[in-house]
Amino acid sequence: MTESGERSQKPSLLTRRQFDWRGVRLAAATAGIGVLGLGGWLWSNRRRRYLNAARTDVTSNNSLESHAAAKGLIYGAAVVPGWLDVEGIARGHTDDGYTQLVNSQTGMLVDEYTSYWKWLRPTPDRFNFKSIARLMRFAELTGKRVRGHVLVWHEAMPGWFQSVANKQNARELLVNHIHTVAGRFKGRIETWDVVNEAIEPMDGRPDGLRKSPWLELIGPEYIEMAFRAAAEADPQAKLAYNDYGIETNLSREVRKREMVLALLQRLKASGTPIHAVGVQSHLWPGLGGEAGLGLQEFIREAAKMGLEVHISELDVSCMRVKGKPAELDETVARIYGDYLNLVLAEPNVPLVITWGITDAHTWLQSAWLLNAADKRRIWVKIAEGLRQRPLPFDNDFNPKPAFWALRAALDAAPQHSTATTANG
Ligand code: XIL
Repeated sequence: MTESGERSQKPSLLTRRQFDWRGVRLAAATAGIGVLGLGGWLWSNRRRRYLNAARTDVTSNNSLESHAAAKGLIYGAAVVPGWLDVEGIARGHTDDGYTQLVNSQTGMLVDEYTSYWKWLRPTPDRFNFKSIARLMRFAELTGKRVRGHVLVWHEAMPGWFQSVANKQNARELLVNHIHTVAGRFKGRIETWDVVNEAIEPMDGRPDGLRKSPWLELIGPEYIEMAFRAAAEADPQAKLAYNDYGIETNLSREVRKREMVLALLQRLKASGTPIHAVGVQSHLWPGLGGEAGLGLQEFIREAAKMGLEVHISELDVSCMRVKGKPAELDETVARIYGDYLNLVLAEPNVPLVITWGITDAHTWLQSAWLLNAADKRRIWVKIAEGLRQRPLPFDNDFNPKPAFWALRAALDAAPQHSTATTANG
């Protein structure tokens, strides 16, 4: 196996900005819309402002990280490693707003997407750890915990997988991937999302398992196999099962929650090394569901099995809510508050991770553009009026109502015993 080393990693902020500007023109040209004219603007233009703006200080003791830590809790965020000014941090100073924001607010980081198979495995025998290594370096320099995401998922698979994987080699492919990836960062990842989204009630199986390529190639035992391989590769890491659509009292979510619970029970019964369940928490007000007693009961059932429950990908979509931006911000904040007050009251919920940190970059609203210059994909902004507002900080990295709601929920939480490793 070969891999690209970190040596080839030399992003310069200036260069990235230039690339982004090309992205704007590309966006306007390809989408046929005046991205800038519509009020869209680029991420990178606002990146520097965090430090300099005069506003309420929410850094150091006032940060989400500090308020979480005061309760024995962890606050973290999914980040894009390529956007972190690791070189600046290593030198002891960065002007980069995104880097400052991530550094000042979080106690834990998750690689938002560059640890997917698709990114890590350009070919069947080559691993590319460049991006995740960048995140690990940043985490080491800043003393952040890291959550690994994700070892087994049916999405974001590389193009070669379909033609290469078959019933004869699938087990080896799976185990080898886990040994290589989890083994490489052994002792440095606090929790691995080992298996993601393996339950899909609509696929109609009595056990609720999704008809994923892994299920079809290996059978239901692929899940246990993955956890065992992860435990072999990194015995200290906590190992998590992670899923979505299990938060509210909508009937389909209640059903899925039951099936996830049944899966967890089967895994525990077979002695599978599993320590946590991630509840993604991509919340969608306006669909008619609410998080309540059912979720609380799920968390308590997990506790009985000795499992932690991680709020692993929190954000709030406004797709189904109407209102002016300020009203939407209030709605999002109310959901943050209600949801976190419910879940953080439980002693086995030690952490909250938001899926991103600023509305300037969210998977809920983004457009992928291929940057012709360096073949990287970049994110550009979409028209202001269409914006999603799912995260604690706004486009200019100012704290939003969701920030204050999140911080207040951390303050209101009972004292938790700080999360440790898989073995204690
Ligand atoms: C999202 C990423 O944020 C995007 O960049 C990517 O294009 C699609 O996936 N559940 C998960 C995450 O476990 O990995 C997903 O992240 C969001 C849903």
